Amino acid sequence: MTSRTLRIAMNGITGRMGYRQHLVRSILPIRDQGGVTLEDGTRLQVEPILVGRNADKVKELADLHGVEHWTTDADSVIDDPTVDVYFDAQVTSRRYAALTAAMKAGKHIFTEKPTAETLAEAIDLARLRESTGVTAGVVHDKLYLPGLVKLRRLVDEGFFGRILSLRGEFGYWVFEGDVQEAQRPSWNYRKEDGGGIVVDMFCHWNYVLEGILGTVRTVNAQAVTHIPTRWDEQGREYAATADDAAYGIFEIETPGGDPVVAQINSSWAVRVFRDELVEFQVDGTHGSAVAGLRNCVAQQRAHTPKPVWNPDLPVTEPFREQWLPVPANADLDNGFKLQWEEFLRDVAAGRTHRFDLLSAARGVQLAELGLQSSAEGRRLPVPEITL
Ligand SMILES: NC(=O)c1ccc[n+]([C@@H]2O[C@H](COP(=O)([O-])OP(=O)(O)OC[C@H]3O[C@@H](n4cnc5c(N)ncnc54)[C@H](O)[C@@H]3O)[C@@H](O)[C@H]2O)c1
Repeated sequence: MTSRTLRIAMNGITGRMGYRQHLVRSILPIRDQGGVTLEDGTRLQVEPILVGRNADKVKELADLHGVEHWTTDADSVIDDPTVDVYFDAQVTSRRYAALTAAMKAGKHIFTEKPTAETLAEAIDLARLRESTGVTAGVVHDKLYLPGLVKLRRLVDEGFFGRILSLRGEFGYWVFEGDVQEAQRPSWNYRKEDGGGIVVDMFCHWNYVLEGILGTVRTVNAQAVTHIPTRWDEQGREYAATADDAAYGIFEIETPGGDPVVAQINSSWAVRVFRDELVEFQVDGTHGSAVAGLRNCVAQQRAHTPKPVWNPDLPVTEPFREQWLPVPANADLDNGFKLQWEEFLRDVAAGRTHRFDLLSAARGVQLAELGLQSSAEGRRLPVPEITL
C-alpha cells in the first residue's frame, strides 16, 4: 500500500523543540501510523535520519526510538541524493547557513522559526526557495492549535461583526537558574547568541495576526530586560543581555479593509493568572471570544451583561461564567504533527506549502521592526516584502 518513503534528515533533535515536538510528537507518530494518506489514496511513509553534534546523544535517541540511521555529519546528509527533506531545529544562529546549503542541494526544507537572524537573510532564503523550486515549510504551530482553530472559525462565521481589537497575553515565570533550574535554554537570554523575546515571539505574533485578522501595518513596541542576571545550564552566572519582555501594539488591516488594534504582552518575567500560557481576546460589535492553546469561549451581543461602575459595591456579575465554550467539532491532533502532515502532502504533490519562507520573512521583519521601534521610542510602518 505504501507508495513512497520520504527520507527526512532531522538536525537539532537533541534540543527541546526538535526532540519533543518534531521527533517524538510528529515524525515518530507519523512513522508509526504508517505515514500519511495522499489525495489519491496511496500512503506516504517517512524515514527519519537523526543529525547532531554529539554522537553519544544522537545514537542514544536513535536506539531509544528505533531509528536506523543517524550521523554527526550534517554536510553528508545534505549531499546525500537519497535524502528528500532537511529539517532544522538548531539554535537560530545556525539556521541560515544550514537552510541555504540544503536548498542549494535541492532538498525540501521544514524548519523552526525564526528562519534567520536578520531580515536580509530571511528574504535571501525566500528568494532561494523560489529559484530552486523546492517545497519549504516554516513552523506556524500556533495556527494549528485547537484554541486558535476555533477562534478562526468564529471569524469565518462572521461571529464578531466588525472586529475592533485583539489583546494577547503570553508568558510565564522562567526561573533565573540560581536556586531553581531555568526551564528554557540560556542562549534565549543572550542577545549575542540569537536570544530575546522579541526575536522569539514576534515571528509567531505576525502569523497569528495574519492568520486570524489580517495584515500587520504598523508596530509600536517596548522591549525590556527585567532580569539582568541569570544562571546557565552549568550553574554559572551570566549577564542576560537579551530582552525578556515586550509590550507591543500592532495595527492590522483586515481583508475587508477595516482597521483592528492588537496589543500583545510577551514576558518570561510574569506569573500566570490565566487559564492558559497564552490567551487572545477578540472583541467585535456582535460578539467577543477568548482563545488559549486549547480552549475558546465566546459571548454574543445578546448575552452581554451591562455592568455599571461602582467601586462602593462588590462585583455584581459572575463575568467568567457568562461565556460559552466553543466546541472543536473535530479531532484536533498535535499542531506540529498536523503541520508536518500537510507539509509532507505538499512535498509529494510538488506544490508550495502555505506557511513558507516569505511568511517567515514577514515574521523576522516584525521582530526587527519591533526592536527598532523600542530603541527609537516610536511607531513604525511595516512595509510589504516583495521578492
Ligand atoms: N515553535 C515554537 O513554539 C518554538 C519554541 C521554542 C523554540 N523554537 C525555536 O526552535 C529552535 C531551537 O530552540 P530550542 O528551545 O529547542 O533550543 P535548544 O537549545 O533546546 O536546542 C538547540 C539545538 O541546536 C543544537 N545546536 C547546534 N549548534 C549549536 C550551538 N552552537 N550551540 C547550542 N546548540 C546548538 C543543539 O545541540 C540542540 O539540538 C530555535 O530556533 C527557537 O527559536 C520554537
